[in-house]
Amino acid sequence: LKPVRIGICGLGTVGSGTFNVLLENADAIAARARAPLQVTHVGARRDNPACDLAGIRLSRDIFEVARDPEVDVLVELIGGTTVARELIETAIRSGKHVVTANKALIAEYGNELFALAAEHNVALRYEAAVAGGIPIIKALREGLAGNRIEWLAGIINGTGNYILSEMREHRREFADVLAEAQALGYAEADPTFDVEGIDAAHKLVILASLAFGIPLQFASVYTEGITLLTPQDLDYAEELGYRVKHLGIAKQGDRGVELRVHPTLIPKDQLLANVNGVKNAVLVEGSAVGPTLYYGAGAGGKPTASAVVADLVDLARDLSAGQVSRVPSLSFADTSLQDLPI
Ligand code: HSE
Repeated sequence: LKPVRIGICGLGTVGSGTFNVLLENADAIAARARAPLQVTHVGARRDNPACDLAGIRLSRDIFEVARDPEVDVLVELIGGTTVARELIETAIRSGKHVVTANKALIAEYGNELFALAAEHNVALRYEAAVAGGIPIIKALREGLAGNRIEWLAGIINGTGNYILSEMREHRREFADVLAEAQALGYAEADPTFDVEGIDAAHKLVILASLAFGIPLQFASVYTEGITLLTPQDLDYAEELGYRVKHLGIAKQGDRGVELRVHPTLIPKDQLLANVNGVKNAVLVEGSAVGPTLYYGAGAGGKPTASAVVADLVDLARDLSAGQVSRVPSLSFADTSLQDLPI
């Protein structure tokens, strides 16, 4: 079988996780993908001792991966919206398929990037961009395709949920838990994205775009973070029978789709109120199926790698069937841009 040749850009928490999951599970992955997935090129500014790169081409200039004719799929795991955007555009223009975990980039420039990918007849996949290892993109795009989605609500930032959980359960200080989340590789390069709700807003617009068939519109999200919450607030909520959770909510209304991120009081006996630590959970109400809940690790190397590799397997299957261009990146990619009132 002809291998699918993969170039990984970025060897941080998720990059090294992806590299190692591909190696550790190579046999099962090859069987499912109907082809071996072979890393042929890694682009990284520095080595990561967690990865054995023996025999694999290594470039300090990541753009060499995007232009390498020995690479079929570029996996972008550097993050950010400047170099990453240029890298992905270069890869697409070189005829490569792209898999990314970059929610900021998809949320802010996805409309343009999906159009560019369609123009060049390549795939742009992003399962890992939302809720880490939870296959929520596939659930919305495929599993719930027969439903009208009424609303969705989720805990979609692991760092923020970890902070709120530790503050409440162990009375720890906000700054102390955030520092730990950074050390564990959960937080964003700029952690204000986590605690001010920006990361959750990025993820929410991606989910809403899939759920409601609307263009990505990051600027339309009402966003409020968790930085003003104190342990006393969490205690008062508890006394009244509630937990405070930082939610992303998207709801179809008469005048359009409402998009918001803010701390929310949830009755203690509800499932979402009991999602603790770095876990994420997304509740989706479908018109046919009713409420459905998706739960799992929302951040971290291996869990996020699980979603990256799932995209690679999916893509490899499409490649073997010769039908990549028929798989839409967004469920309603052709919807014309419209200004939706909140
Ligand atoms: N910083 C993000 C989080 C990483 O904590 O959820 C996963 O997207």
